[in-house]
Amino acid sequence: MAIKYNIKSATSTLPSTELVVSFWNKERLELSPKDKNFVIKALERFSAKGEAGEYIPINYSTNGRTRTVFMVGMGENPKMDVFRRGVAAATQYAKRMAVRDLSIIAPENLKDGYEVGMACVEGIELGGYVFLKYQSESAKIDKERSIQNVDLFVSRGLNAGALRGIKTGKVYTEATIIARDLVNEPARHSRPEDLAETARQLARNSEGRIFVEILDRKECEKRGMGAFMAVAQGSTNYPYFIHLFYQPLTKKPANELPVIALVGKGITFDSGGLSIKPAESMETMKVDMAGAAAVLGVFSVLEKTQPDVLLHGYIAACENMPSGSAMKPGDIVTTQSGKTVEIRNTDAEGRLTLADAISEALKVKPDAVIDLATLTGACVVALGEDIAGLFSNQKMLAQQFMSAAEKEGEQIWEMPLVGDYRQLIKSQVADLRNISLKRWGGAITAALFLESFVEGKPWIHLDIAGPAYTEQQTSPVNPFGASGFGTRTVLRYLENIGLKNK
Ligand code: BES
Ligand code: ZN
Ligand code: ZN
Repeated sequence: MAIKYNIKSATSTLPSTELVVSFWNKERLELSPKDKNFVIKALERFSAKGEAGEYIPINYSTNGRTRTVFMVGMGENPKMDVFRRGVAAATQYAKRMAVRDLSIIAPENLKDGYEVGMACVEGIELGGYVFLKYQSESAKIDKERSIQNVDLFVSRGLNAGALRGIKTGKVYTEATIIARDLVNEPARHSRPEDLAETARQLARNSEGRIFVEILDRKECEKRGMGAFMAVAQGSTNYPYFIHLFYQPLTKKPANELPVIALVGKGITFDSGGLSIKPAESMETMKVDMAGAAAVLGVFSVLEKTQPDVLLHGYIAACENMPSGSAMKPGDIVTTQSGKTVEIRNTDAEGRLTLADAISEALKVKPDAVIDLATLTGACVVALGEDIAGLFSNQKMLAQQFMSAAEKEGEQIWEMPLVGDYRQLIKSQVADLRNISLKRWGGAITAALFLESFVEGKPWIHLDIAGPAYTEQQTSPVNPFGASGFGTRTVLRYLENIGLKNK
């Protein structure tokens, strides 16, 4: 059942719900004088400092009822994401304690009602997310413990903004959860044809603004997608190329709308192929379609966000498997662009499928191409599991995208497209080789490989190999499993260009 959100004006006394979430630091503790004394004493006992990431539930009883104040440290310079994470942490606590109603007192210094509303919903819905489809007993318990009612207390003047924020937040989290569910689904049930079916459903459920075109193997071959076909040929599960298109309902002539192409890596399982992965690295390789999942997540809510953009989505969906029919190291394939690639390592398959998907995207003459891909382990080595690497050939585009990410609390770091490294992916027998001559800088050489297919068009490549999936929660906004990384940032980015356009 959907959680009910209510906006209330901040009062000086604590709300009377079972669980109250309050934010504090050394300078500021927003509670009524009566509660303050008690809470301060308790915080002292915990030697709490009010730093960001500090979560302390304090239980006490008033009028014969036990209640909990969940104290969230804000740190010196309180940020919106600290609020989002605090709400997420409180949600996880509430679910553990089977609390149904909670009150959240937004920190006074956060003055943007819209952002507060959004961050609140994102914290609740994403922090409380669990994938329980295959756990019958836990699913039942989780349902019984679900939160029903959230009162969000905001300072004067922020009510209207917060209400709008809650509305948008619900849409953004819906998209993110669709992406998470798609990634969490085991590869056994999430084959290329299943992704194609998801895309078809999406168009069918739309009110005529979303169109889908699915290309089967024959059609892909006809179009010359030799690299994509080579990756796909090792599996008994057939590949499908998915093309989605969204046309906004607007009075503006189509030639005044920006054309954006989203490309998602859609390897539904990456075994490495003949250059097979070690068992441990393979365990979570159902994640390798997380880019595709983000694209599908975005498309599933476009009719609600209605950006003024002509949006195309491209997914070359296949499995990377070893078999008698698999591509082999040393093979040379011809991509749709005409460029030839020497396959040195079959585990560097993402760039092969993306190369053909990018060429397909260029056919609609996009103003920008944005690809999302769990592309390299090297990017995880460079930035860790929480941060995605961004590569772009256009400063403005990169900046706009990164500011959207910042607003969504998704961590992205810009990486360089080092020109000197281009020689590392030159082949002596083909135009390109699919792995670098050298071991180092693998995230960069992979990005350079993709860049050679974008024909100078404004382009962003987001390597999400790290943050797409976690089995050890670091931020409470992203619990165990898929994060849906990129979905919210793309939605926010589209909303922003839409605004500039209006
Ligand atoms: N899908 C992997 C990258 C990956 C690693 C995703 C960890 C998620 C978590 C990709 O296809 C791959 O195997 N890349 C190789 C490239 C290498 C052979 C040049 C890698 O990173 O080791
Ligand atoms: Zn691989
Ligand atoms: Zn892969």
